[in-house]
Amino acid sequence: MTNYSIMILPGDGIGPEIMAEVRRIMAWVEDVHSVTFDVTDGLIGGCSYEAHGVPLSDEILAAAREADAIIMGCVGGPQWDGKTDYDKRPEAGLLRLRKELDLFANLRPAMCFDALADASSLKREFIAGLDILFVRELAGGVYFGEPRGIETLPGGGRVGINTQRYSDAEIIRIARVAFDMARKRGGRVHSAEKANVMESGLLWREEVSKLHASDYADVKLEHILADNCAMQLVKNPKQFDVILTDNLFGDILSDAAAMLTGSLGMLPSASLGDGGPGLYEPVHGSAPDIAGRGIANPIATILSFAMALRYSLGMGAAADQIEASVSKVLDQGFRTGDLMQAGLMQDGMQQVGTAGMGDAILAALENN
Ligand code: IPM
Ligand code: MG
Repeated sequence: MTNYSIMILPGDGIGPEIMAEVRRIMAWVEDVHSVTFDVTDGLIGGCSYEAHGVPLSDEILAAAREADAIIMGCVGGPQWDGKTDYDKRPEAGLLRLRKELDLFANLRPAMCFDALADASSLKREFIAGLDILFVRELAGGVYFGEPRGIETLPGGGRVGINTQRYSDAEIIRIARVAFDMARKRGGRVHSAEKANVMESGLLWREEVSKLHASDYADVKLEHILADNCAMQLVKNPKQFDVILTDNLFGDILSDAAAMLTGSLGMLPSASLGDGGPGLYEPVHGSAPDIAGRGIANPIATILSFAMALRYSLGMGAAADQIEASVSKVLDQGFRTGDLMQAGLMQDGMQQVGTAGMGDAILAALENN
């Protein structure tokens, strides 16, 4: 029997509730696929700060390094919003984890389940069948560039500083991931930057072009300015296959695309390095406004676990089963509140809470 060690970091807000449903799905996978998951739980984010004074402790980081995969919920909340020392903020725990494990490749699939095509803010015909893969650079750029900080000027004014910085090596390694992914999908990459105003964007464009010419001429490459990419995502999202972009633009563009699919509560992500464990987390945040009420949508985190099965544990068949079950329960009309948009309440649909959605997915898995 294969044993995998899994680190679970539920985090803040709705994190613990949605992770409870992942644990039930994990138990199903253990039963059916003859594997065991050796689970270690840890704190990250605001809850870690309250317990240990830091948003990610050295102990948890060391344990995460040893795991086969790390499944995370979400971090942050209004009680920590006023924190001005950035290294103590909940988000800093997540950024440290990404950086220390060098998880440079963030895969964010934005797919529209057919049953949800009417939940989008765009018309069904623009959304049905949508299948975009964002490949977001995650360990560099303005999130980590030095110098950074808030300085007081001689005249008493203040200046906030962050530095966008990309080396050729950083650009090439993430571009390689995008091209490799495109080969397994629709064979097309849009590379988004701001080469018109930023040197880092110009270098990005040059390096992506060079790599394309030398190693990936079979893939269709288009360069697109990041602002135009945002506009095109809202205008005609189905034109995209793989979108390759940097850390900050990837953060913004993937949120926009997520919403096109009906709800931010649906989108999973995988963050991969060069060997070592992957980190799997939903794209959404900690939703403090609904935390503790048992109504959050667990699907993004469940789909993130499916990505862990596929990319870190070599269990693609189990991942397929989970994804098919999610699709099935949506077809059956099960909806969490976020999917129950005004006017979309139709006959045969049933509003469920977090555990109710978990029940439905487990039932679909069992009746497979
Ligand atoms: C995301 C989030 C994070 C980011 C935050 C929580 C640090 O928005 O994963 O998209 O900005 O990368
Ligand atoms: Mg984000």
